Amino acid sequence: FQDKSLAGRQILVTAGPTQEDIDPVRYISNRSSGKMGYAIARAAWEAGARVTLVSGPTALEAPYGVERINVKSGRQMHAHVMQLVPGQDIFISVAAVADWHVSNTHPQKVKKTGAQGGLDLALSENPDILAEVAALPNGPWCVGFAAETENLHDYAEAKRKRKNIPLLVGNLAQETMESDQSRMVLFDEQGNHPLPLLDKPAAARRLIVEIANRINHLTSS
Ligand code: C5P
Repeated sequence: FQDKSLAGRQILVTAGPTQEDIDPVRYISNRSSGKMGYAIARAAWEAGARVTLVSGPTALEAPYGVERINVKSGRQMHAHVMQLVPGQDIFISVAAVADWHVSNTHPQKVKKTGAQGGLDLALSENPDILAEVAALPNGPWCVGFAAETENLHDYAEAKRKRKNIPLLVGNLAQETMESDQSRMVLFDEQGNHPLPLLDKPAAARRLIVEIANRINHLTSS
């Protein structure tokens, strides 16, 4: 970045999947590498922001200059985000938070019982971190992500309205998850703006430009 378009801004990013324990050796999770969230954290730092990254389990190294906090479960991510959010200017929620956690976790490894033996999991919804942050009075400017497998435009715009956020980035799960590239469609008050297929670092830089334009327009008008 030539210009430090986010200089002086505090940005909180979530990234990666969350893991929800079944027992000490098993979990349920989402298909997410963390690459997009990490690329966004890096791009925000390059644009001059102070960046905190709350990350679920990934194989990635923290980007230079970015403070990373590691979490496992959606409820841990929720707790850290709510603690960190005061004072943040922007919240970019890239994490693929598991929609449910297991409410009948087992303290010991569950043993198989044989032919007709199954295992019943009871699932309870995780807190919606993004919706909660977006509902805070004087909270940060919020950006959400939506990975859908179909009806991207309808689902993404409905999600943006339901979570009450100014910008939502939609993409097709089959084109982005566990991939090095992303084809983003931006949804905001004005409508939708499709972007080309880009490598994730380039997609992240492009998104940071879009966010900086919107934020800097808000604070200068
Ligand atoms: O509702 P859905 O999970 O598709 O919404 C996606 C957006 O909401 C993402 O930005 C994701 O990080 C955020 N989210 C969250 N907490 C959840 C579920 C999703 O912050 N429990």
